[in-house]
Amino acid sequence: MNLAELNDIARRMVAPGKGLLAADESGGTIGKRFAAINTPNTEENRRDYREFMFRTTDAMKKHISGVILYDETIRQKAKDGSTLVSIIEAAGAIPGIKVDAGTTALPAHPGELITQGLDGLRERFAEYHKLGARFAKWRAVIDIAPGIPTYGAIDANAQAMARYASLAQEAGIVPIVEPEVLMDGDHTIDRCEEVTTFVHNLFFHELAIARVALEGIILKPNMIVSGKKCAQQAGVQEVAERTLKVLKRTTPAAVPGIAFLSGGQSDLDATAHLDAMNRICGNPWPLTFSYGRALQAAPQKAWGGKSENVKAGMEAFAHRALMNYNAALGKWNKSEDKAAA
Ligand code: 13P
Repeated sequence: MNLAELNDIARRMVAPGKGLLAADESGGTIGKRFAAINTPNTEENRRDYREFMFRTTDAMKKHISGVILYDETIRQKAKDGSTLVSIIEAAGAIPGIKVDAGTTALPAHPGELITQGLDGLRERFAEYHKLGARFAKWRAVIDIAPGIPTYGAIDANAQAMARYASLAQEAGIVPIVEPEVLMDGDHTIDRCEEVTTFVHNLFFHELAIARVALEGIILKPNMIVSGKKCAQQAGVQEVAERTLKVLKRTTPAAVPGIAFLSGGQSDLDATAHLDAMNRICGNPWPLTFSYGRALQAAPQKAWGGKSENVKAGMEAFAHRALMNYNAALGKWNKSEDKAAA
């Protein structure tokens, strides 16, 4: 492992204002997104859709530091025969790869999930590195409900995350460490804060035991928000302050950057929360976005699976990329965002 190189990649992933496009939906997940816009989930549609985002050159150059791909996409060719990876690289962005194989029920832990995909991961990392990946993503899913999460499920996920992260670094690939505490459910923001704090403490503990170098990772956390079905919804400032409180308590300053997931927040909420956090000075790490839905919902809707709408899709993508870039600098303007949308 060359830690200086890993640290350099990680820093480029969180360069001022820039953030990550999470375009790593598995075939099933992108199928759900396409169903919402009445678009058949074919390989050609998946390619055309991702190709137009990656070819939104100005936005990719200025506002997107890297793209998280999926196994199909990292091997895929654009209509003109060039690889999608080469289009991303030509825009100056870094290709990354999701390497987890999704979740399955954790035995003896009703209602809890474990992320799989460690088998053969060393060999897969070697191949993905050859294909151009310089960072990777692995997502652990922690649900909040009566009686869960349990210590056992959190720690099992933390151990798997730590093994993934050490294998990534061995391969010269920066691991994104993504412990996602879900916002589904009716829990309060207090409960989200409590669980996320515990989760981060256990995850960093297992990363240390696995000898993962913190200078060569990016943390991808959830924000501290009220459960979606909670009657009492916290405002933007409270979300920002609580999220920073938890991160400062749990995340060493050696971590080069934090790139949030959007987790089902609306586009505007995800941008507003990021902006509010960046307006608070003195944070030890750059805070940016690694959004899937909050970057892609608008372009998906504008495109609607029709080639004549590609330009509208590109404009919608460029707009959200710019808004989140501004938010990562703490300079987002809500009325400008709404007016343009
Ligand atoms: P969302 O921003 O849609 O949560 O997706 C980000 C991601 O990569 C989830 O794993």
